[in-house]
Amino acid sequence: MKKRIVSGIKPSGSLTLGNYIGAAKQFVDLQNEFDSFVFVADLHAITVPQNSTELRARTYDLVKLYLAMGLDPKKTTLFIQSEVPAHLQLAWVFTCSSYMGELERMTQYKDTVLKNKVKQLPIGSGILQYPPLMAADILLYDPQIVPVGDDQSQHLELTRTLAERLNGITNQDIFTIPETFKPKQGARIMSLQEPTKKMSKSDDNPKSYIALLDPIAVSVKKIKSAVTDSEMVVRYDVEHKPGISNLLTIYASLENIEISDAQKHFENSTYGEFKTAVAKTVEIFLTELQNKYHALNMDTVNAILDDGRIKADAIASKKISHVYHKLGIGRF
Ligand code: TYM
Repeated sequence: MKKRIVSGIKPSGSLTLGNYIGAAKQFVDLQNEFDSFVFVADLHAITVPQNSTELRARTYDLVKLYLAMGLDPKKTTLFIQSEVPAHLQLAWVFTCSSYMGELERMTQYKDTVLKNKVKQLPIGSGILQYPPLMAADILLYDPQIVPVGDDQSQHLELTRTLAERLNGITNQDIFTIPETFKPKQGARIMSLQEPTKKMSKSDDNPKSYIALLDPIAVSVKKIKSAVTDSEMVVRYDVEHKPGISNLLTIYASLENIEISDAQKHFENSTYGEFKTAVAKTVEIFLTELQNKYHALNMDTVNAILDDGRIKADAIASKKISHVYHKLGIGRF
């Protein structure tokens, strides 16, 4: 039997080049080798307030992007998290078996608390309960591998802990303990304006990220105005040259080459020439992606999602029945 992968992305903003390089590109590469499940994490998106019209539109956008990036519905089961009720059912089990201290230690939670305090916004309790839902998303399908970017490693570690805890409570191996899979390069694509910070779709400065569906001329301009340094040597050195290192990572990832080879390629280039080359690579990538995205229609997407929901639900509903049974939930 093929080993399995599971992963998802939140439709909470415009997808970025970071999401692609750190996560989605891996889904595409791994689908040939693994039994693959990829979803739209819409229930995670509502842990922060959303506009309903935009959320639904972004859900479709994300599915179209998954397909445009190369996910093949014959190899990957593509579905929407909210359409498979077992995700929420199992999330409650993990909510009950996780500890406040564990959840409060999560960096993403702590960052949101800080940000909201500064903006004097309330902190929704969904932000705290986010990792148990993520554990449920994963463990329902017994994957061996979960491809994610660097910022999700801590959630994955907690997922493993929760799986082991429930296996312990029930004295049975109910859940497969999954491994985190991070790309060799590009697990953390940085902001183009503050290259010591992660590129993020929720950044207040739109110049800091490349949104996959933005007009291509805008993205080219963002690469050309990316913050670098004054050394004038194209060299990979994250500590001293975070901006140049980030652009080298983006270039190498999109060209499918090693960072060391990219560095060699640009060893005699000026920053201007280097940025022009990176911008060209991004332009070619986005043009192809957007052409494929625009060629997809609603009927095709809906048919793929219907099929995905049926396949995912068959596995997930069987799993939740098994878990309930082992925990003594429900009738004899
Ligand atoms: P999300 O939607 O924030 O991000 C989706 C994926 O993109 C990766 N990523 C990055 N990788 C490299 N550089 C960046 N700058 C960058 N920004 C984001 C993330 O690491 C992630 O892999 N909680 C998840 C969604 C989720 C999920 C799951 C993932 C829900 N359930 C189960 C895996 C398994 C999230 O918010 O990702």
